[in-house]
Amino acid sequence: MQNVPLPVVRPRRLRRNAAIRDLVQETRVVAADLIAPLFVKEGDGPPEPVGSMPGVQRLSVADLVAECRALHGLGVRGVALFPVTPASAKDPAGTEALSPGCLVLRAVRAVKSAVPGLVLFTDIALDPYTSHGHDGILTADGSDVDNDATVGVLAKMAVLHARAGADFVAPSDMMDGRVAAIRAALDAAGRTQTGILAYAAKFASAYYGPFREAVGSARAAGTTALDKRTYQLNPANRREALADALLDESEGADMLMVKPAGPYLDIIRDLREASSLPLAAYQVSGEYAQLHAAAEKGWLDLVRTRDESLLAIKRAGADLILTYFAKDVAKALAEETVAGG
Ligand code: PBG
Repeated sequence: MQNVPLPVVRPRRLRRNAAIRDLVQETRVVAADLIAPLFVKEGDGPPEPVGSMPGVQRLSVADLVAECRALHGLGVRGVALFPVTPASAKDPAGTEALSPGCLVLRAVRAVKSAVPGLVLFTDIALDPYTSHGHDGILTADGSDVDNDATVGVLAKMAVLHARAGADFVAPSDMMDGRVAAIRAALDAAGRTQTGILAYAAKFASAYYGPFREAVGSARAAGTTALDKRTYQLNPANRREALADALLDESEGADMLMVKPAGPYLDIIRDLREASSLPLAAYQVSGEYAQLHAAAEKGWLDLVRTRDESLLAIKRAGADLILTYFAKDVAKALAEETVAGG
C-alpha cells in the first residue's frame, strides 16, 4: 500500500466551529444596508394586505408614519415610498403626478416631520398615475412611450418631491436623458442637495407582477403582462445594461441601482467594478413572493432563504438593498444582538 501524503492545506480549518466561521465571514448584511419599500394609500382606513406579497400592506399616511418610526427604531436608515393612486385620479397623461396635493407629497411631508432622521427615497415615474399603467406619456398614436415629453414631466415631479422633503429622488422610468434633466431641474429650483438614486439597470422583468398588483398599475392596464420592453432593459443584455447604467452616472446620478437583484447578480458585480458610486439593488416583489410561496408550501425555509438571498446580493457587490424583508431582517438582527450573537 502506498502512503497517501496528508494534505498540508486544509480549508476546513476555517470552518471548524461557529466562532471561527464568524471571524472569517467576508460579507454581512446589517440593518444600515436596508431600504424598505412602502406602499401608501389614500384615506385613514386600516392597512390593506397585498395578496401576492404576504406581510406587505398598503398603509394610510398615519400608519405609514408609524411604520417609519418602527423601522427607524430598528436601525433601518431609508424607506422608498410608492403611492397607490385611486383609479378615479388616473388619466392617460398621469396628471395627478404633478398635483401639489397628491398623496406621495403628503406622505413625504408627514414622514419627514415625524422621523427626520430617516432617509426618504421617492419613485419618479408615471405608472402610479397613468390609466394605461405605463411609466410615461404615450405618443400620439398610443403605440409607445414618448421619451422627451415624459422626461419633462419627470423633472417637474422631482422638484415637487424635493420641495416636500425627499432626500433622494429615484427615477425608475428608464427614459433616456432623465437623470440629466432631473439634475438640472433640481439645481434650477435651488435643490442642489437633493440626490438622485438612478434605477440605472432596470430590466423588463416578469418579477414585478406582485408590485403591479400592490399599486394597481397592472389592473389599470388590464393585464399583469404590461409590456415595457421599449424602455426597460432586455434581460438578455449585459453590455447594454452596463452602458446604460454608466450613462446615468455621467448625467449626475449619486447612486446607481440594479433591479431586479437576485436574478441579476452578474450585473451587480459588473457595475460594482465599473463605477465607484454607491450601488443599490432592488430585491423586487416577485423575488419576495416566490420565497413566501415556497415557504407556505413547506418547500423552503423562509428565514434561511431570505437571509441567503440578501447575503448573495451583498456579496455580488451591492452596498444597499431595497427589500420587502427589511423590517423582518432588522428585527432578527436586533434580537441576535440582544442574545449576544
Ligand atoms: C415602476 C416601478 C416598478 C417597480 C418599482 N417601480 C414596476 C414596473 O416597472 O412595472 C417594481 C418593484 C417591485 O416589483 O418590487 N416605475
